[in-house]
Amino acid sequence: MTLSEQKKALACAVQAARAAGKLMRQNLFAVKKINVSSAHDIKLELDVRCQKLIETVLYRKFPRVALLGEEGVAGDPNSAERWVVDPIDGTVNFTYGIPHACVSIALQVQNPGNPRQKTSALDYETVVGVVYDPFCDELWTAIRGQPARLNGKIIRVSERKTLGEAIVSIGFAKSPANLKRTLPYFNKLVGRVRKVRMMGAAALALTYVASGRFDAYIERGIRLWDIAAGGLIVESAGGEFWREPVAGEDAYRLLASNGRLRKKLQSLG
Ligand code: IPD
Repeated sequence: MTLSEQKKALACAVQAARAAGKLMRQNLFAVKKINVSSAHDIKLELDVRCQKLIETVLYRKFPRVALLGEEGVAGDPNSAERWVVDPIDGTVNFTYGIPHACVSIALQVQNPGNPRQKTSALDYETVVGVVYDPFCDELWTAIRGQPARLNGKIIRVSERKTLGEAIVSIGFAKSPANLKRTLPYFNKLVGRVRKVRMMGAAALALTYVASGRFDAYIERGIRLWDIAAGGLIVESAGGEFWREPVAGEDAYRLLASNGRLRKKLQSLG
């Protein structure tokens, strides 16, 4: 994909993210229709409406690209390119009227060295990422190989080197098993770092790392649509986006950081 095609894709993803973000803003305090509710998760009818809106905008300009979204798949599954979409990241916050949620859209291309395999997300590379927070009107964008931007201005990760001065954010995923495995991170970190934060929108946590607001973000059991766009934004801001698939789950262990703290965090276990 050429740079000019990537720029076109970025512009289209920005348009789609802003359209879905507007719908989120209009509905923050509305009574929302819940499609599915479980112990630690909620799926809204608005998740589906936002994804449909995003699809409509993306497919006007890119009719042949596949789409993998939290609310289902679309497009041509044989395409070597795919959009990865979380229409509302931070759905529980949004449902409760907490204005900390966003739209996340990534464009991925199949790794050229691996043309037949499409089984793992690691077979794809994110080339364009957009995360939009409609409540703060903050738009993060990245194209692989170019600097990451927030509302058009170049951003960099923090330079903090010690855990003692770091803010580390932790995501608590949805399954009881992952919740149980995540709790020890909290216990190990809380006395060592300046602050632990748990804000409930993984894509925003990643963009906060990219912007130098957080120094690291940790989650176990996170899905691809939560991290594809934000991961590229972290890397394009000079940070590290370390992840590995969790065996037997369609999910990842994630440690995104400013690059200076990864080893220290990993040594905590
Ligand atoms: C969730 C949020 C949450 C994270 C979960 C995600 P959703 O995404 O990003 O912060 O801890 O793992 O699934 O369901 O609100 O799109």
